[in-house]
Amino acid sequence: MKSKANYQTWIRMHKLLIFFIISLMLLSITVIPVNVYVRLLAGILALPFLYITFILSYSVYQFAAFGGDYQSKIHDLIAAKVNGDGEGKILDIGTGSGSLIIKLAKAFPKAKLTGIDYWGGNWEYSKAQCQQNAEIEGVSDRIEFLKASAAELPFHDHEFDRIVSCLTFHEVKDKSKKTEVLIEALRVLKPGGEFVFLDLFMDKKIFGDEKELINALKNHDAAEWNSCKLADAIPLPKLLLNKKVLGNAMILSGRKI
Ligand SMILES: C[S@@+](CC[C@H](N)C(=O)[O-])C[C@H]1O[C@@H](n2cnc3c(N)ncnc32)[C@H](O)[C@@H]1O
Repeated sequence: MKSKANYQTWIRMHKLLIFFIISLMLLSITVIPVNVYVRLLAGILALPFLYITFILSYSVYQFAAFGGDYQSKIHDLIAAKVNGDGEGKILDIGTGSGSLIIKLAKAFPKAKLTGIDYWGGNWEYSKAQCQQNAEIEGVSDRIEFLKASAAELPFHDHEFDRIVSCLTFHEVKDKSKKTEVLIEALRVLKPGGEFVFLDLFMDKKIFGDEKELINALKNHDAAEWNSCKLADAIPLPKLLLNKKVLGNAMILSGRKI
């Protein structure tokens, strides 16, 4: 058994590798003895790939524990917004490698916790990795990890006292209207229960107008809610504020009637 938990970053390494390899291939054309226009074109085409490779590598560095550790800091921020004595049932939707739900298990020793994820092939997280991380952190007896889609949660109405989710709703492919995924999350929350959701809520192309989103939540029993730009809640390195990274990230938290 490993002695250190492995929490992968939000950046998919295979995606980074693809951009890196394409950049290298295009750059290598610029130094081989072929037509000068072909070399010039390859050089120009390499620029966007190099830029994306740089942004992705920089993000990995800033998110990882060996760099800026921002992923853990952002999970701490979400965990700090979870109120109460921590008793009862807590759900993390799209748990990834289990980092957030494990933090919550440590913060709330009396809680029973569930992490769900679909752990699709396009991501590098797995249920086995979550279970191993929970064991290493000494909280595996109170966390259950389940494979399920956020679009259709395998729970009865009102099952959970608290629900958290980090950067998952926008990823759910089996619902075109992402607001419906939030509403599905609220369905399994108890009346009086609390939610803390972080996602790219300011991206209108994904979630529509912010007011519409808030109205949708209000119409589905979200009694009290707060919205807060991630960048206002925690100082982030400038490049992470790129719209393709966390520039559109916002925390929505509140309580169900
Ligand atoms: C950016 S990662 C965030 C992971 C984790 N919440 C964290 O903060 O470390 C997005 C997560 O959404 C999950 N996901 C994508 N579509 C999903 C779906 N339909 N149902 C459940 N999880 C999904 C992915 O497997 C991945 O773990």
